[in-house]
Amino acid sequence: MTGPGRIVTGVLAPHPPHLVYAANPPQNEPRSSRAGAWKGLLEGYEKLRARLTAREFDVVVVHTPHWKTTVGHHFLGIPRCKGLSVDPIFPNLFRFQFDLPVDVELGEAICAEAAAGGLVTKMMRNPDFRLDYGTITSNYLSLGHFETPIVAISSNRVYFDYSNEAGDREMLALGAATRRAIEKLGKRALLLATCSLSHRHFTQEPADPEDPAFEHPYNANQTRWDDHILSLMRNGETRRIVDEMPDFIEGCVSETRDGALTWMIGAMGFPTIPAIVHGYGTVIGTGNAIVEWDLS
Ligand SMILES: [Fe+2]
Repeated sequence: MTGPGRIVTGVLAPHPPHLVYAANPPQNEPRSSRAGAWKGLLEGYEKLRARLTAREFDVVVVHTPHWKTTVGHHFLGIPRCKGLSVDPIFPNLFRFQFDLPVDVELGEAICAEAAAGGLVTKMMRNPDFRLDYGTITSNYLSLGHFETPIVAISSNRVYFDYSNEAGDREMLALGAATRRAIEKLGKRALLLATCSLSHRHFTQEPADPEDPAFEHPYNANQTRWDDHILSLMRNGETRRIVDEMPDFIEGCVSETRDGALTWMIGAMGFPTIPAIVHGYGTVIGTGNAIVEWDLS
């Protein structure tokens, strides 16, 4: 036990590999020559990191759209994760050597809590498992290091196989299970819901991916939805966000359809405090916001 277990902070932490590319960390093979197109998002992550550095976390719990599991919710179950992660869409931007510790104890506890709550779950024990770029990118951009052990949770296909409403119900149950396990084990947790908001995107890349002239919202409908969701976040209306989630998903092809945001709102217990929006910007036309719920 490390003290009273609680969710210290929840963050909406989008994972465009472009942002890691632009930051030029030694682990990433491709080299960026300038951070031209995504300044607002990079500065937003800087502001977030400055705030998170002042807090103590025992664990980072990430729900990611890029570890997709057809049956059930899977949890990382190996003590250390190491290897090369390549973005399948942008291998020119992201070929990242990852090496990070895993909090298997908490992963197992959330897995068991969720199963007890009626969800299908599984621990992932493959020692050669290749961690997805959503988990790596959001963790790196939020903290700037990989020293804090992580729990990674896969994205189940329930929204796609059944409906947005069924998906949200399941993610709220998974969120509640996550919270119970964190409290039982006495962990101070940082939650990362890693996804874009609006997610309609360009299908062609310019010769220079960092050309600022290329980067803009896909269309005004996408921006309008994003502005609306961000205003609900700033006003503490998380219950209404979940109420409107099915329409939001359909209205702008939102990546929240993979469940991360609903999961985190459920885990935080529908917070009514105003969220802090550290940055908003587009990457290949998709809308991305860095948003913090400071529950500390
Ligand atoms: Fe994504």
